[in-house]
Amino acid sequence: MPDCTYQNLEALRRAEHQPGLEGKVATLHLKLYHLVAQMTAPVVLEFGVDKGMSTCLLAAACEENGGWLYSVDIADCSAAIRSPVWTFIQSDDLQVAEILAAAPALRDGVHLLHIDSAHSREHVEQQLLRWYPYVRQGGYITFHDVDATPYLAGQRKDDPRHEPEALGVPDTIRRFFYANEDALFLEFHFGSTGMGIMRKLAPLGTRPQPPLKLHTRQVQVSLAGLFWTGRALAAALVKRFLR
Ligand SMILES: C[S@@+](CC[C@H](N)C(=O)[O-])C[C@H]1O[C@@H](n2cnc3c(N)ncnc32)[C@H](O)[C@@H]1O
Repeated sequence: MPDCTYQNLEALRRAEHQPGLEGKVATLHLKLYHLVAQMTAPVVLEFGVDKGMSTCLLAAACEENGGWLYSVDIADCSAAIRSPVWTFIQSDDLQVAEILAAAPALRDGVHLLHIDSAHSREHVEQQLLRWYPYVRQGGYITFHDVDATPYLAGQRKDDPRHEPEALGVPDTIRRFFYANEDALFLEFHFGSTGMGIMRKLAPLGTRPQPPLKLHTRQVQVSLAGLFWTGRALAAALVKRFLR
């Protein structure tokens, strides 16, 4: 079992499927553990360590099945866990060449890539474009923070500054999914801040299409609304002056 500096693995396991926020956080993160635990000698890569909840669970699964976990963070998070199957790489996760130099085994394919670092549209888009080719056929890309609801007005983490980013991450993932839909499955789990699980069906090395530009009809609807409202007002005015 990994020695997790800031996490209590047993408490996380006990909280799985329990009601309340703690149960939701544990259940969503344990989805990562279960995905990896069912694999044989997987190569796992994660972006974003901090206090290492995902790191702890992913390392626990790798210790059980002969896998290896590579964790990348721009900050020094080397003390987050101690595990014989863990390599910590301090780097910006968009620096593909630097990370591959530190972990050449990633070139042979990643069974699961977990993304939980910088939460902006642009960063997630670049992570997907740069790292998708290194995920194996049948492998997974998982995402923390796909549910922006807690950051909206009046909600648990009400934060007007973070709200656009919180909405932007799942939107980028959804648009990436629709740009590469034939080769992907995608599920979002809601509650807490959510967890996304994407399965890749395309072969290792396949380059993805960039996220699709999706247009909602909101603007057109409101323009049409403006037109009809203006027309009705004009008609009313004309009628009044002609009386
Ligand atoms: C939300 S925390 C990760 C939480 C962790 N996955 C967990 O389950 O406890 C985000 C982390 O991403 C790191 N980070 C931010 N930008 C980054 C980047 N460009 N490359 C790598 N890591 C980054 C931060 O230093 C921070 O430690």
